[in-house]
Order: sequence, then C-alpha cells, then structure tokens
Amino acid sequence: MAARTIVRPSFHSYDKDRLVHMTRSGLAMALVLPLGAGLIVVGSPATGTSGPAPEASTVPPSAAVSYADEIAPIFQQYCVSCHGGEWEGEERTELSLDMTTYEGTMAGSEYGSVIEPGDPDNSLLLEMIEDGDMPEEGDPVPPEDIEKIRTWIAEGAENN
Ligand code: HEC
Repeated sequence: MAARTIVRPSFHSYDKDRLVHMTRSGLAMALVLPLGAGLIVVGSPATGTSGPAPEASTVPPSAAVSYADEIAPIFQQYCVSCHGGEWEGEERTELSLDMTTYEGTMAGSEYGSVIEPGDPDNSLLLEMIEDGDMPEEGDPVPPEDIEKIRTWIAEGAENN
C-alpha cells in the first residue's frame, strides 16, 4: 500500500535551483498545541439563578481535528488556488490534484495518493508543506496549521 508515496520520478526536479535544506522540524512543532480546542463555551444564558445547567452529556471532550471545520479552510486558503481553483484568472488543477473536496484530496494526484491515513510521515502532502515546497507561491502555511494537518492525518484523515 505504501509503495508509491514519497518516491516519485522527478519529484523535486522543479526545485533544483533553490535547494531547500530544511531539517524536519515536525517533532519540535508537535509541542505547539492547538489551544483553541480547549476553549469551551460554558455559560448558557439561563435566566434567574446561577445554577449550572446539567449539560456536557452529548459532547465528548475530544481533541479530534475536524476536516470540515479546521482542515478544509486551510486547504481552501493556501492550496485550492492551484489545486482545483483559480490562480490569477486561470483555472488550475496541478497534477490533477483537486483539493476543493475531501474526496478529491484523498484521491490524490495523477501519481497517486498524497495522504496516507494514520501515517503523516508518509504523506506527501504534509511533507511538501513541511519542506516549504507547497504552496508553491504565496504565503506559507503557519506552523499551527501544519500541526493541525499532521494531527488530522494521524487520526485517520477522516471526513469528519
Ligand atoms: C501557486 C500554485 C500552487 C499552490 C498555491 C499550491 N500548489 Fe501544490 N503544486 C503546484 C504545482 C505547479 C505542482 C506540480 C509541480 C510540483 O510538484 O512542484 C504542485 C504539486 C503538488 C503536490 C505533488 C503531487 C504529486 O503527486 O506529486 C502536492 C502534494 C501538492 N502540490 C500539495 C499542495 C498543498 C497541500 C498546497 C497548499 C498548502 C499546495 N499544493 C498549494 C502548485 C501549487
């Protein structure tokens, strides 16, 4: 299954004149926690006295990263312009990688899958972001967003 993920013919060839010598900083970044998940809205506007409402039975305190809420917006902001959308007035779906939908992202490029669910270190999509290869142009993805993508893939890259 993992046969043809990272090793691709001419994979980094486009990059030959700007050698990127980045050490993998994934481990260091793992320490940067997505604190936003910890904030939970507590006060429901109960009229009258301040008795705490007996809630919290339905929502588990899960730290799972949601594709729809957290990952798709990142892809939308940094990737879709060249992978399924428009870049400077021109339609672009580079290497047939269409990141406008979950299905398209999981289907991968014309070379095959770019995400290995549960295995971020073998996911080309993440590697290219961490190495600074993607987005090819434009603002880089911030470290905390990269960490979210890593966690989401580690958790199974679900359509959640
Ligand atoms: C400005 C245009 C542009 C943007 C923005 C962009 N890409 Fe790309 N992407 C390309 C081009 C061009 C290629 C094909 C050539 C190459 O590999 O560099 C490519 C190739 C890729 C590949 C390799 C697919 C394969 O199978 O070899 C992946 C994965 C990828 N992009 C992911 C992303 C992700 C994730 C983002 C957002 C963080 C992103 N790209 C943003 C232009 C872009």
